[in-house]
Amino acid sequence: MTPGVRPLVAGNWKMNGLKASLGEIAAMGEAARAGGAGAAELAVCPPATLISQAAALLADGALAVGGQDCHPKGSGPHTGEIAAAMLKDAGASYVIVGHSERRADHGESDALVRAKAEAALAAGLTAIVCVGETRAEREAGRALAVVSGQIRGSLPPVAEPSRIVVAYEPVWAIGTGLTPTAADIAEMHAAIRAWLGEIYGPGGATIRILYGGSVKPANAAELLSLANVDGALVGGASLKAADFLAIAGVYRNT
Ligand code: 13P
Repeated sequence: MTPGVRPLVAGNWKMNGLKASLGEIAAMGEAARAGGAGAAELAVCPPATLISQAAALLADGALAVGGQDCHPKGSGPHTGEIAAAMLKDAGASYVIVGHSERRADHGESDALVRAKAEAALAAGLTAIVCVGETRAEREAGRALAVVSGQIRGSLPPVAEPSRIVVAYEPVWAIGTGLTPTAADIAEMHAAIRAWLGEIYGPGGATIRILYGGSVKPANAAELLSLANVDGALVGGASLKAADFLAIAGVYRNT
C-alpha cells in the first residue's frame, strides 16, 4: 500500500468468457455496490466481445471495465485490431497494454507498448502498463535491469499520473501458482516507485503499482499489504466472482 493512493484490483480475463459468464460480472458489481472492496477500486477486463454488455451491467460505475489490448493507431486498415477509442465507446475506462502474453505471443516491443499506452491516453482511457522479468532473467540476477528497461521504454514520458497504472507481473509467476518472495516483490516495487519519480517527478509517487502473478484469496492479504503494492492484476482467480471478491475483500478493513 502507498499512503494516500486508492488501490485498484483489476481482473484480466484473458481469452476466457462467453455471454454466459456475465453473471460473474454482475455478481462482482453487486458486491462492489455493497462495499465488498472497501475503499479499493475494482475493474474487470473481459474479452472485447463482452465489454459493451459488461459496461451495461455496471453503468453505475460500481466496477470499471477495461480492454486487454489496443492498437496504437486511432483507426484504419488494420484487420482484426481494436482502437482505444472503440474500447472507450464500448464503455471501457481502462486498457491493459504490454501484457507479457502479448509481448511473447506477438513480439510486442517496449516502443510498441508505449505507442499503445499513448493511444489509450489520447482516447481518454487509463493505461495499465505491464512489465516483468522471465525466470531466466531473474535467475541471472537481471530482474531489476530488465524491468527498469521496460519501465523506461514502455511508459509514455509525458502523462497525467492518475491515468497511468503499472502492473509488475513476473512472467514465471503467471498462471503457475508461484509467487516471488515478499522481499523480492517489495524490492521491485520500491525500485519501480523510484523510476516513476525519475520519469514523472513528484507525480510518480501517486501512480498505482499493481502486483500480478498467481494472486489468490489465500495469498492476497500478504501480497497486498506490502509497501508500494497498490493493488493486484488478477488472472485466473478473477474469473469467479467469489475468488475475485475474496481478493478485493482484503481492502474492506483498510
Ligand atoms: P494469474 O493470476 O492467472 O497468474 O495471471 C496473472 C496475469 O497475467 C494477469 O494479467
